[in-house]
Amino acid sequence: MDLSAFLRILLFCAYLPVTECLFLHQENVTDLILPSYDYIVVGGGIAGLVVANRLSEDPDVTVLILEAGEPQVYAGLVGHGWNPEYDWNITTAPQEFLDNRTRWYNLGHVVGGGSVLNGLVVTRGAKVEYDAWQALGNPGWGWRGLLPYFKKSETFVDDVDPDDASALHIQPDMSVHGTSGPLEVAYPKFFYNQSNSFLHGVSELGIPLLNDANAGVSAGAMIVPATISAQNQSRTDSRTAYLDRVLNRPNLHLASGQTVTRILVGTDGTAPIIVPPFGHLKRAHGVEVVAAAGAILSPVLLQVSGIGPAPILDELNVTVQVDLPGVGQNLQDHPMVEAFYNYTEPGLFSTRNLTGATLQEAEAEYFTNHTGPWTAPLISTTAFPSLRSLTSNWSTILRNISSSSAARYLPSGPGQHPAVLRGYAQQRQQLLRLLSRNDVGALEIMADSVGTLTIANHHPFSRGTVRALSSDILSHGSVASNLALDPRYCSQPEDCQVLVEGLLFNGRIIGTGAMQQLAPRPPAPWDATVAGPEPVNETALLEAVRGWLTTEFHPCGTTSMMPIELGGVVDPRLMVYGMQNLRVVDAGIIPLIPAAHLQAAVYAIAEKAADMIKEDHGASTSGSPPDTPSAWKPSPSNPADPPHSAGIPSGGKESPKQAN
Ligand SMILES: Cc1cc2nc3c(=O)[nH]c(=O)nc-3n(C[C@H](O)[C@H](O)[C@H](O)COP(=O)(O)OP(=O)(O)OC[C@H]3O[C@@H](n4cnc5c(N)ncnc54)[C@H](O)[C@@H]3O)c2cc1C
Ligand SMILES: *[C@@H]1O[C@H](CO)[C@@H](O)[C@H](O)[C@H]1NC(C)=O
Ligand SMILES: *[C@@H]1O[C@H](CO)[C@@H](O)[C@H](O)[C@H]1NC(C)=O
Ligand SMILES: *[C@@H]1O[C@H](CO)[C@@H](O)[C@H](O)[C@H]1NC(C)=O
Ligand SMILES: *[C@@H]1O[C@H](CO)[C@@H](O)[C@H](O)[C@H]1NC(C)=O
Ligand SMILES: *[C@@H]1O[C@H](CO)[C@@H](O)[C@H](O)[C@H]1NC(C)=O
Ligand SMILES: *[C@@H]1O[C@H](CO)[C@@H](O)[C@H](O)[C@H]1NC(C)=O
Ligand SMILES: *[C@@H]1O[C@H](CO)[C@@H](O)[C@H](O)[C@H]1NC(C)=O
Ligand SMILES: *[C@@H]1O[C@H](CO)[C@@H](O)[C@H](O)[C@H]1NC(C)=O
Ligand SMILES: *[C@@H]1O[C@H](CO)[C@@H](O)[C@H](O)[C@H]1NC(C)=O
Ligand SMILES: *[C@@H]1O[C@H](CO)[C@@H](O)[C@H](O)[C@H]1NC(C)=O
Ligand SMILES: *[C@@H]1O[C@H](CO)[C@@H](O)[C@H](O)[C@H]1NC(C)=O
Ligand SMILES: *[C@@H]1O[C@H](CO)[C@@H](O)[C@H](O)[C@H]1NC(C)=O
Repeated sequence: MDLSAFLRILLFCAYLPVTECLFLHQENVTDLILPSYDYIVVGGGIAGLVVANRLSEDPDVTVLILEAGEPQVYAGLVGHGWNPEYDWNITTAPQEFLDNRTRWYNLGHVVGGGSVLNGLVVTRGAKVEYDAWQALGNPGWGWRGLLPYFKKSETFVDDVDPDDASALHIQPDMSVHGTSGPLEVAYPKFFYNQSNSFLHGVSELGIPLLNDANAGVSAGAMIVPATISAQNQSRTDSRTAYLDRVLNRPNLHLASGQTVTRILVGTDGTAPIIVPPFGHLKRAHGVEVVAAAGAILSPVLLQVSGIGPAPILDELNVTVQVDLPGVGQNLQDHPMVEAFYNYTEPGLFSTRNLTGATLQEAEAEYFTNHTGPWTAPLISTTAFPSLRSLTSNWSTILRNISSSSAARYLPSGPGQHPAVLRGYAQQRQQLLRLLSRNDVGALEIMADSVGTLTIANHHPFSRGTVRALSSDILSHGSVASNLALDPRYCSQPEDCQVLVEGLLFNGRIIGTGAMQQLAPRPPAPWDATVAGPEPVNETALLEAVRGWLTTEFHPCGTTSMMPIELGGVVDPRLMVYGMQNLRVVDAGIIPLIPAAHLQAAVYAIAEKAADMIKEDHGASTSGSPPDTPSAWKPSPSNPADPPHSAGIPSGGKESPKQAN
C-alpha cells in the first residue's frame, strides 16, 4: 500500500469500526454504494460538504457525495506556495481586453474544494451588497436573511492579545458572530509590524479603521480573521469542519475520485435523476440532486446534461432538456494586480526572514506553542476603500459607465439572450448605486509583510462566460481541455481604470509617514506612482495593469439566482428552472459579486440552502443541535502537519500564485 492510500485510510477510518467508515474507496465503492439515495450531492467542496452534513443530520435520510478529487495529504503542502496536485489545472481563454495572454485559473480538485487551497481570509462584505441580491428578485436573501447563516456556520473566537487588539483595532462585534458553528474562525497569534504601518498609512489618507471586518460595513481598513483553529492555529476547512466529524453517520456516504460526467434527465423532466460518474461507479440514483461543483464546473455539467442556452447545446449536439439562457453566462470575478513596493528598512522582520535557523525556530514555536510567525496567514491586513475615497474621479467614472450601453460590453454570439441582458442591466443599476455609497468597498488592497500591496477590483462591470466544448467532459483526457472559460476581464474598460486609480492610491499610501518608515524601494513600473517630480504616466500604468492582471479566485454568477426573465438559472429556493428535483448550491448562484472574498458567503448560502431543502421535504429545521467541540470525532493528526498549507509564507519565495 502506498503512503497516500495509507494516510487516506488513517484519516477517515481510524477509531471507527470499518462498517461505519462511510468513505467509499475506489476499491470497494461498487460494493458499498446503495442502489439509491435521497440526495446526491455533486461536488464535495465548500457548499457540497455543508449541505451533505446538514441533510444527513436526519438519520432517515440517505446522502451521497460524489467528489472528483481525493482527500489531501496535508504534508504535501508544507512550505510550498502552490501544489497543482489538488488543482483542476484550468487556464482562461486569451484575454483580449488585456494583453491577449491566457491566465491560470486555480480551482480545488480535492475533498473540501477551494477551502483546502484558499488563503484563509474571512470577509463578508457590506450589508447593502446582500440587500442588492434581494433587490434582484430574491426575497429572503438580503443581509437579514443571511446573517443567521453566517452565524450558524462559524465558531468565532476572539482571543487576541490585548496590546495587539488595541494597536490593530481588533474589536469584533460578537452580535454578528456565531459561537457554536462547525467552522472555526479566529485571528492569528502573530502580526508583522508592517500591519500597523499600513493601518496608520491608510488612516492618514482618511480611510476609516474598522474594528470588525464582518459586521456589515466593509469600506475601511482592518485586520481580517482567518479560517484557522483558535486552539492550534491550523487551517480549518469544509472537510475538517463539516465532514471529518460526521463520518460515523451510516446514512452519509462520500465517494471520492468520482467525476460526474452528466445528470440524466428523465423524459418527463420529473423522473429521478441518475448521475453516472466516470470511473468505478457505473451510476447512482438520487431522488434529488444538488449540483455543488462550483461556479465554473456546475454550469458545464448542466450544459452537457441538456440544461443551458439552446444555441450552445445545439453546437454540443446535446438534446435540449431545458433552454436556460443564463447557464454559464454572467461570470463575475475580482480581477487582481500584485504591485511591489519592497520594504528595505534594516532590521525589519518579514516572511523573507523565515529561512534557515529562523524558519526552524518559527516551526518549533508553532508546533510547541501554536504561536509565532508560522501562525500568520499571508494576508491579514486589508483595506476596502469606497470609490469616493479612492479617487476624486469617482463621479466621472460612474457617469462614464452609466452613459455607456449595457449591451455593448456583453459577449455576443451563441448563448447571448435578451433575458441575460436585462439581468445585467439591473445589476448595473445596483452596482452604480452601491459604488456611490461610502460604506461599500470598490477596491481591495492586501498588504503583506515584504512590501506587496495587491489590489483587486471588487465591483467589476465586466461579465464573462464558461461553456462546455464537448458533450463528453472527459474526452481529450481532462475536464480542463473540454471547457472554455473566458472571464473577459476589463471588457468594460472602467474596470481596469479603477485598478489604475488603485495603483495611484497605493502610491499615496506608500508616501505616508507611517509607510515611509519601512523604506519602500518600489521597482518600475510601481515606482512611478510614488510622489516624485515627474507627472505619472497613466498610459504606462494601464499597460502594467493589463499585463499583471489575474484572478483573485472568486468566480460566481454563472448559475445566478434571479428571475428567469432576467437570465436567472435558479429560483430563490435554488431549484433549477424547469426541473423538479435539481438544485444548484455553490458560488455560481451569487447574482452580484460582493466586495469580499467569497468563502464566508458560500458557507452561509449552503447553510441556508440546507434549511430550505429540509423545509421543502417537510422536515423541521430548528431541531438540529449545533455542532459543538464535544461532538467532534477524534481526527488523527499527523504530527508533521503544517498549520495551514498554502497560506504559509514560503520562506522568502513570493509565489505570484500565492492564494488570497
Ligand atoms: C487559490 C484560491 C484561494 C482562495 N482564497 C480565498 C480566501 O482567502 N478567502 C475566501 O473567502 N475565499 C477564497 N477563495 C475562494 C473560495 O475558496 C471559493 O469561493 C469557494 O471554495 C467556492 O465554494 P464552492 O462550494 O462554490 O466550490 P468549490 O469549493 O470549488 O467546490 C467544488 C467541488 O466540486 C468538485 N467537482 C467539480 N466538478 C465535479 C464533477 N463533475 N464531479 C464531481 N466533483 C466535481 C470539485 O473538485 C470541488 O471539490 C480562494 C479560492 C482559491 C481557488
Ligand atoms: C474499502 O476499501 C478500503 C481501501 O481498500 C479498505 O480499507 C476498507 O476496509 C474497505 N471498506 C469496507 C467496508 O470493505
Ligand atoms: C493537475 O496537474 C497536476 C500536476 O501536473 C496533477 O497532479 C493533477 O492530477 C492535475 N489535476 C487534474 C484534475 O487533472
Ligand atoms: C489582441 O488581439 C486582437 C485580435 O487579434 C488585436 O486586435 C489586439 O490588438 C491585440 N491586443 C494586444 C494588446 O496585443
Ligand atoms: C456535432 O455533430 C456534428 C455532425 O455530426 C459534428 O460535425 C460536430 O463536430 C459535433 N459537435 C461536437 C461539439 O461534437
Ligand atoms: C521587489 O520585490 C519583488 C517581489 O518580491 C521582486 O521580484 C523584485 O526583484 C524586487 N525588486 C527589487 C528592486 O528589489
Ligand atoms: C530580515 O532580513 C533582512 C535581509 O533580507 C535583514 O535586513 C533584516 O535585518 C532581517 N530582519 C531581522 C529581524 O533579522
Ligand atoms: C515591532 O517593532 C517593535 C518596536 O520597534 C520591536 O520591538 C519588535 O521587535 C517588532 N516586532 C517584529 C515582529 O518585528
Ligand atoms: C514555548 O513557550 C514557552 C513559554 O513561553 C517558552 O519558554 C518556550 O521557549 C516556547 N517554545 C518554543 C519552541 O518557542
Ligand atoms: C483623474 O483625475 C485626475 C485629476 O484629479 C486627472 O489628472 C486624471 O487624468 C484623471 N484620470 C483619468 C483616468 O481620467
Ligand atoms: C470619461 O470618458 C471620457 C470620454 O470617453 C474620457 O475622456 C475620460 O477619460 C473618462 N474619465 C474617466 C474618469 O473615466
Ligand atoms: C507613457 O507610457 C507609454 C507606454 O509605456 C509610452 O508609450 C509613452 O511614451 C509614455 N509617455 C510619456 C510622456 O513618457
Ligand atoms: C489542530 O486541532 C484540531 C482540532 O481542534 C485537530 O483536528 C488538528 O489535527 C490539529 N492540528 C495540529 C497541527 O495540531
